[in-house]
Amino acid sequence: MGDDERRYRYDDSYEETVPLSDGQRVHLRLVRPSDKDMLREAFNRLSPDSRYARFMAPKASLTERELDYLTDVDGVDHFALGAVRRHLVAKDEGVGSARFVRVADDPDTAEPAITVADDYQGKGLGSILLQRLIEAAWERDVRWFCTDLLAENKASKRMLESLGPEVRFRASGDGGLVATLPVPEPDHTPTAPGFLLGTPIQKLLSFVARAAVTVRPRVTQPPEPPP
Ligand SMILES: CC(C)(COP(=O)(O)OP(=O)(O)OC[C@H]1O[C@@H](n2cnc3c(N)ncnc32)[C@H](O)[C@@H]1OP(=O)(O)O)[C@@H](O)C(=O)NCCC(=O)NCCS
Repeated sequence: MGDDERRYRYDDSYEETVPLSDGQRVHLRLVRPSDKDMLREAFNRLSPDSRYARFMAPKASLTERELDYLTDVDGVDHFALGAVRRHLVAKDEGVGSARFVRVADDPDTAEPAITVADDYQGKGLGSILLQRLIEAAWERDVRWFCTDLLAENKASKRMLESLGPEVRFRASGDGGLVATLPVPEPDHTPTAPGFLLGTPIQKLLSFVARAAVTVRPRVTQPPEPPP
C-alpha cells in the first residue's frame, strides 16, 4: 500500500465488528488476495437466485481468473470490503462483500456491488456494507455510484432508496434497471460515531441528482481476456 493510501480510514488496518439485527456479530475488513478460498466457498454456498441477482446471469462457479480479479484489488480504483463471521471451532466464513470499481473514462463514478450470504440476508448487513462502501468511495474521490440491477431485486432497490430521494432508477432496456446516486459526504462531526452509523443518511446527501443516466457496462466483473 502506497503512502497516499495511509490517509484512508478504509485501508489495510481497518477492522470493525458490527452487530446484525439478530444479535450475531460480523467482522468487517478489506478483502485480501489470500481470501480466494473463502470467497470461492462463499460463492458456492450462495443460492442460484442470489448469484443471478449479483451477476445478472446464471453463474455456476467463479473461475480462478475471476477469483483473482475479485480479491487482488488495488484498493483505490477497485475497492473491496469483506464481512467475515468468526466461529470458535470452524474456520472463518465469508458472509458478505461490498466493492466498487471506478469507471475508467469517468473517474468520479464507480460501480458498486454488494453480496450478502443467503442465511445473513435481511439482517441489516447489506445496509451496513453500503454505508461503509460509501465512506470508502468518498475517501477515494468517487462522487457517483452507477449500477445495474434486476428490476425485481427488491432488497437492492430498497437499500438504495433508503439513501434518500437523490437515487434515480432508469430502465436499462434489457428488463433491468440502472441506479444512479450521488455518493454522500461522510459526517465527521463528533456526534457521528462511525461516520454514517446511526445518523440520518438523508442529511448527508448534499448533491442535486444528475438528470441524465447512461447505461454502463458492468465493470465489477473481470474484462474479457484478449483473443
Ligand atoms: C441486496 C442485498 C445485498 C441486501 O442485503 P441485506 O443484508 O439482505 O439487506 P438489509 O438487511 O440491509 O436490508 C436492506 C433493505 O432491504 C429490505 N429488504 C431486505 N430483503 C428484502 C426482500 N427480500 N424484499 C424486500 N425488501 C427487502 C430491508 O427491509 C431493508 O430496507 P429498510 O432499510 O427499509 O428496512 C442482498 O439481498 C443480496 O446479497 N442479494 C443478492 C445479491 C444482490 O442482489 N446484490 C445486489 C446487486 S449487485
